[in-house]
Amino acid sequence: MNNTILVTGGAGFIGSNFVLDWITWETDPVVNLDKLTYAGNLQNLASLKGNPRHTFVRGDIGDSSLIDELLANHKPRAIVNFAAESHVDRSIHGPGEFIQTNMVGTFHLLESTRSYWGSLSENDKKNFRFLHVSTDEVYGSLAPNDPAFKETNTYEPNSPYSASKAASDHLVRAYHHTYGLPVLTTNCSNNYGPYHFPEKLIPLIIHNALADKPLPIYGDGQQIRDWLYVQDHCSAIRRVLQDGKIGETYNIGGWNEKPNLEVVHTLCAMLDDLSPRADGTPYASQITYVTDRPGHDRRYAIDATKINRELGWKPAETFETGIRKTVEWHLTHQDWVRNVTSGDYKKWIETNYAQS
Ligand code: NAD
Ligand code: DAU
Repeated sequence: MNNTILVTGGAGFIGSNFVLDWITWETDPVVNLDKLTYAGNLQNLASLKGNPRHTFVRGDIGDSSLIDELLANHKPRAIVNFAAESHVDRSIHGPGEFIQTNMVGTFHLLESTRSYWGSLSENDKKNFRFLHVSTDEVYGSLAPNDPAFKETNTYEPNSPYSASKAASDHLVRAYHHTYGLPVLTTNCSNNYGPYHFPEKLIPLIIHNALADKPLPIYGDGQQIRDWLYVQDHCSAIRRVLQDGKIGETYNIGGWNEKPNLEVVHTLCAMLDDLSPRADGTPYASQITYVTDRPGHDRRYAIDATKINRELGWKPAETFETGIRKTVEWHLTHQDWVRNVTSGDYKKWIETNYAQS
């Protein structure tokens, strides 16, 4: 076994931030496997061009022969599985890909991993880790006064996306209990930051505001999400990979519950300050209420006590510092935004907001 780690989905939003941070903070090489769906973008990794510690491979986590070959050639000491279909609205319009990648793909990845792990020496077997990156959405929706999600909460997924992630979490758990595979699972709240695809709330609002387009608020805008700056998620995953207890799950969150409307007003005010509209009117004038998401979860909140107590992790950014960095990043990376919002992106926006 080598020191290499295999990252899947490392050209997406969180995966690419993780790979960039890994190269900065760690010394081990990374093999990055990504299918490059609409959400995967090699431009995110442009700064790693020619870096001998980063190897990119285009491929599917469900392609067993490719995974077997990668594991045999690179002999990684760990796999960090980010690869997934990740957008709730897309899962409502077309759940098939979510079942295929999140459930079937994870199953094939686990099977290849089990076979590779079985071939290792006893010592390497002990040191190997399979870290599965999951979401708080598997726990369902909270009422206003419910305590935040703990690792012991029951799974109550409500969307095809969260159901497919829940199924993958269960498979990972089963591979530990049945076969002894050394797994770790993390369940994180909503991320935001650089390279966030503008189909998700925060980058969509920044993009639409600057493009003088409506800022769509689903329903009454009082749904609550718990926001975490993406690099804090990445540092938490590194902590769990290093010292997490095999077979355990860790909730990751920033203690930043905010109603959507408040997030949108914060973004508008920041843009008013950093890049005012030409006519001097506030960006909030672009806010438009649209048809609600079917089955829309009302509130998510993560209790991140366990990872803090057991692994000493806590986020470095507050919502205020993280959101400022994010807006500034968007303003200085308009070429990135232009590239990802051409072509298929336009079709998606027309489909999703058709009834509004
Ligand atoms: P993303 O959609 O931005 O990126 C997903 C990446 O996976 C893309 O690069 C895509 O090309 C790749 N991919 C998709 N199908 C694949 C396949 N079959 N084989 C190989 N690669 C494939 O997603 P994200 O927001 O970066 O989320 C990454 C992971 O973190 C997901 O597992 C998601 O469920 C989880 N998560 C996301 C958030 C969030 O707020 N975005 C929060 C908690 C957990
Ligand atoms: O909680 C973690 C999850 O967060 C991740 O597992 C998912 O991969 C990630 O996409 C995210 O899911 P959400 O559905 O919470 O994120 P999204 O950005 O799509 O929406 C955030 C909130 O904003 C949600 O309540 C829906 C609302 N919304 C979203 C869009 C795109 C709007 O009001 N208008 C919009 O146009």
